[in-house]
Amino acid sequence: MPPAIPVFQPVIQADTLRHLSEAFEVGWLGMGAGTKAFEELIASYLGVGPARVVATNTGTSALHIALVTAGVGPGDEVITPSFNYVADHQAIRMTGAEVVMCDIREDNLGIDCDKAEALVTKRTRAILPLHFAGVPCDQDGVYRLAERRRLRVVEDACHAFGTTIKGRKIGSYGDICCFSFDPVKIITCVDGGCVVARTEEECRRLHHLRLLGVDKDTTVRYQNQRAWDYDVVDMGFRYHLTNILASVGVSQIRRVGEFIESRRQVCRAYNAAFSRLDGVRVPATDFANVSPFIYSLRIPGGRREALIEHLRPRGVEVGIHFVPVHKHTYFASARRGDMAVTERVVQEVMTLPLHSNMRPEFVDRVIEGVTGFFSGGAGRGEA
Ligand SMILES: Cc1ncc(COP(=O)(O)O)c(C=O)c1O
Repeated sequence: MPPAIPVFQPVIQADTLRHLSEAFEVGWLGMGAGTKAFEELIASYLGVGPARVVATNTGTSALHIALVTAGVGPGDEVITPSFNYVADHQAIRMTGAEVVMCDIREDNLGIDCDKAEALVTKRTRAILPLHFAGVPCDQDGVYRLAERRRLRVVEDACHAFGTTIKGRKIGSYGDICCFSFDPVKIITCVDGGCVVARTEEECRRLHHLRLLGVDKDTTVRYQNQRAWDYDVVDMGFRYHLTNILASVGVSQIRRVGEFIESRRQVCRAYNAAFSRLDGVRVPATDFANVSPFIYSLRIPGGRREALIEHLRPRGVEVGIHFVPVHKHTYFASARRGDMAVTERVVQEVMTLPLHSNMRPEFVDRVIEGVTGFFSGGAGRGEA
């Protein structure tokens, strides 16, 4: 069997190792000047003020403190799709609020705003939409709903670092927005994330929430120093991004354009090959504005498992994004609306390998694997 093609494969090369080694040489391992430098690079990439980005140790912690900063707490409800990663639902529960799960739309697999509106109650404080796979959700619809019903919006853009809508990068405008830089994201810090907030006051709150509520920690640590005369002014967590991991992020963001463009090309090759196949539904985009985190296609008609079995001996690994969160034990009792689209989509979705600078032979093998299944008769049940 040929070597397996993993679903994800981060690009860690000499440039990243050099940044890491320089960060170790500085000797200030925790949060510091490197964290600030990374935040400023993210801010400049997004086109927001340098102090608007607050880096965290994960995307999940970014979501948690973004929700707290948006005023979400015990007694509140937050609406998010069930078709989402459970990080969002856990982050909502961490605030003491209740999760309310909503269905998605067929076209972009993002939140269905009409169905979301039907779930709004007096207790609803915020809406948490996801830009699935890097493809924009109905962002206009989300913000219209938020305005009508006076809700905060915390955007989960963990899949969409670099995606633009009408020429503007997600996260460069709107309410609060969160990104993840975990091991498999478009750029990685090994583990990391960030919140982009709009006001100085909210950024200050985020700084406190990020590091144990200590007032001077951000300003002083950003100079690779410690303050000994600090006060504790808020609740806080230990969610900061260290200099060491920020150095990985700095190396990665310098190459983000190259990573995104190479991923787009793979996605376009996949779309071109698979859109010809009966029995495959490809993402409805040409990826021109999409920074593709995963390539998720749909196999209707109950043939997905047979296709996965067909791909396995050909060394093509497959992921499933997502198991809907309302199916998980811990969230089974959460309030939810009808899940007609979600229930169908989760039977059909599968994620094919997609890497930055993916090896052409990997791309060819994935394409041959999928097309071979449908053209060789296996697609009609002979896998
Ligand atoms: C949609 C979504 N939201 C949030 C997260 C959480 O990010 P992290 O892994 O950095 O905590 C992920 C991670 O996979 C994700 O896919």
